[in-house]
Amino acid sequence: MLKLEHRVRIFQGPGAVQAHPEVFAGYGRRCLIVTGSGSAKKCGALDDCITALKCAHIAYEVFDRIEPNPKTATCHAAGAAARDFGAEFIVGIGGGSPMDAAKAVAIYAKNPSFAHDGVYTRQIPAQKLPVILIGTTAGTGSEVTGVSVLTHSDTGAKKSISGADCYAEAAFCDYSYTAALPQATTVSTALDALAHAVESALSNRAIEKSRAFSAQALGLLAPYILSDPPFPVPDARMRQALYEASVYAGAAIDLTGTCFPHTLGYVLTEQLGVPHGLACVVFMPALIGRARRFCPDALAFVEDALGVPMETVLAAIRPALPPSLPLGGDAIADAVARWQKGVANFTRSPGGLTPEEARQALENVSG
Ligand SMILES: [Fe+2]
Repeated sequence: MLKLEHRVRIFQGPGAVQAHPEVFAGYGRRCLIVTGSGSAKKCGALDDCITALKCAHIAYEVFDRIEPNPKTATCHAAGAAARDFGAEFIVGIGGGSPMDAAKAVAIYAKNPSFAHDGVYTRQIPAQKLPVILIGTTAGTGSEVTGVSVLTHSDTGAKKSISGADCYAEAAFCDYSYTAALPQATTVSTALDALAHAVESALSNRAIEKSRAFSAQALGLLAPYILSDPPFPVPDARMRQALYEASVYAGAAIDLTGTCFPHTLGYVLTEQLGVPHGLACVVFMPALIGRARRFCPDALAFVEDALGVPMETVLAAIRPALPPSLPLGGDAIADAVARWQKGVANFTRSPGGLTPEEARQALENVSG
């Protein structure tokens, strides 16, 4: 079972939500549940949460309009709904989108003067409501990170917020909620976890503790990426391994941040709708190439944790990637213009990365 000391209180395993109504009771008597349109209901997590809330005599309201790649305006509206209801805490149920949205909603709820994009210019830490997260996919690691990735409603650009005010107070990590995930979602979210573990380990901000988390994640993911065929139909054991890997990888990036594949991957998601995990690993060959040049020891560490050379992993995941990525020249130019002010993900990537090199990397995968 997962053993992870972390500032977020983690409750894990099947039945964890219903077994711990006192966790919810510890944060107030009224809450807003923030979720997407369907999957939280389908997988049973919403019902389990409501059962726990009723058991703890907590009044609740459900805001179920969080879209994939949540927009700032949607989170802003949910924050107003939380205030109107008198919510004392927020529960986020879902994959990365509802969980990331819940973090922003908690900030908006306490800051009525904020415009829809006020989270980007807030004083950190901002006032916020407590947040409890219930994960239903295995990839994002949002349960344990102080990061929330949002999409600016006016520009359509994905941009993260981070800080001490972006942590949940508690998270439920019950892999049984992932049992009925479609195979495509299982693969793309697992590849997000892989990207987190690899990018963190190759980051020039990696430290002993983050490397240990990356190694745990890579060791859990490797058997399923490298099986023949890669990513078999999951059984409960595989579901548990993928979930635990996502939490370890989340703990790793919480210490280091991600590298340039995440920043470039956002462009593929914004422009072409490529699922986040796939969009990130599209740039993994470029990342590995730079690691070979600039931090071969860190790359050797990753390969040791995986038990195979990185080429073997890249070959295994290649069939899952989109067959074509028709990025327009304007989209590439817009992205490069956005990066001129400096990008933390570029700075911490192996050898650093200039906006010009980022342009090249985008052009190399486009077509
Ligand atoms: Fe990610």
